[in-house]
Amino acid sequence: MLIKKTSDIKSSEITDEKLYHKRRQFMVGAATAATGALLAACKKSAPPNVATAPPPKLEGIVKSSFTVDEPQTSLKDITSYNNFYEFGTDKSDPAANAHTLITRPWTVAVEGEVMKPKTFDIDELLRLAPLEERVYRFRCVEAWSMVIPWIGFPLNEIIKRVEPTSKAKFVQFTTLLDPRQMPEQRYGTLEWPYVEGLRMDEAMHPLAILAVGLYGQVLPNQNGAPIRLVVPWKYGFKSIKSVVKIQFVETQPRTTWNLMGPDEYGFYSNVNPEVNHPRWSQGSERRIGEFKRRTTLPFNGYADQVASLYSGMDLRKEY
Ligand code: MTE
Repeated sequence: MLIKKTSDIKSSEITDEKLYHKRRQFMVGAATAATGALLAACKKSAPPNVATAPPPKLEGIVKSSFTVDEPQTSLKDITSYNNFYEFGTDKSDPAANAHTLITRPWTVAVEGEVMKPKTFDIDELLRLAPLEERVYRFRCVEAWSMVIPWIGFPLNEIIKRVEPTSKAKFVQFTTLLDPRQMPEQRYGTLEWPYVEGLRMDEAMHPLAILAVGLYGQVLPNQNGAPIRLVVPWKYGFKSIKSVVKIQFVETQPRTTWNLMGPDEYGFYSNVNPEVNHPRWSQGSERRIGEFKRRTTLPFNGYADQVASLYSGMDLRKEY
């Protein structure tokens, strides 16, 4: 991704094998709380906050038919190789630093062009609809991918309950803004808070989910606890983490990476092997845990379900 810090090493500059060894090194550290605390203590920015109460266990999970039958990325890799810039720009930073995020109490305000605006408590959201396990492909613009067994529910379950007006054409999502909990928000790495958006029909699509867990467990902080968006046919950066606000709006909303680099990151950001990013090929990808590259599929392999949303659009221009 595009960042301002000179100290960051671009993934494009690291060979696959080197990246692999670096990751293995960090995985050991990230897996133990003691080492995590030690790493955090070394960072000048880590505040002394600790989460208050453990989040409730996820129960009554049903299997969904919206699922891919492909080998799943290990829990270790999913939880130690992350992008969550609020906790640092290195892939290992979120696992080391996100313990400062307090996920209870937590509310999500749903407002804007709706008949019934409502602020949902996170525990109410957990009971809103049956929690489903959905194994999705997850493709990052940096040309790596994973297969993740998310636990969540369709975003449209919330949308239906607030009754959008005819003016609601887009949905904007906002991440928590609290530099005490999210140390990198003290710096100008990105414009804070992180924001993302979808067109209304994309948001209503049954594949778009709000995830509250993975691998049957409550979502780890580094993966966007307590609730994050997952849109599997789009690049990973659209899947905004730790959401506190969902607004229905009339015009196309601002999105963080589009603000940072409009030539590199468009609003739609559908996985598209035919539109290359200036720094990463989008024609192929490396599945984390594998060395051989795979061919990247249009819409990340979900074309039969979502391509019709974009009929008539020139996806080279509207990337
Ligand atoms: N959401 C917030 N709030 N902040 C971020 O930095 N990074 C995005 C996305 N959501 C990001 C975010 C990017 S670039 C990616 S690839 C995915 O989260 C990574 O999700 P993961 O760490 O669970 O794999």
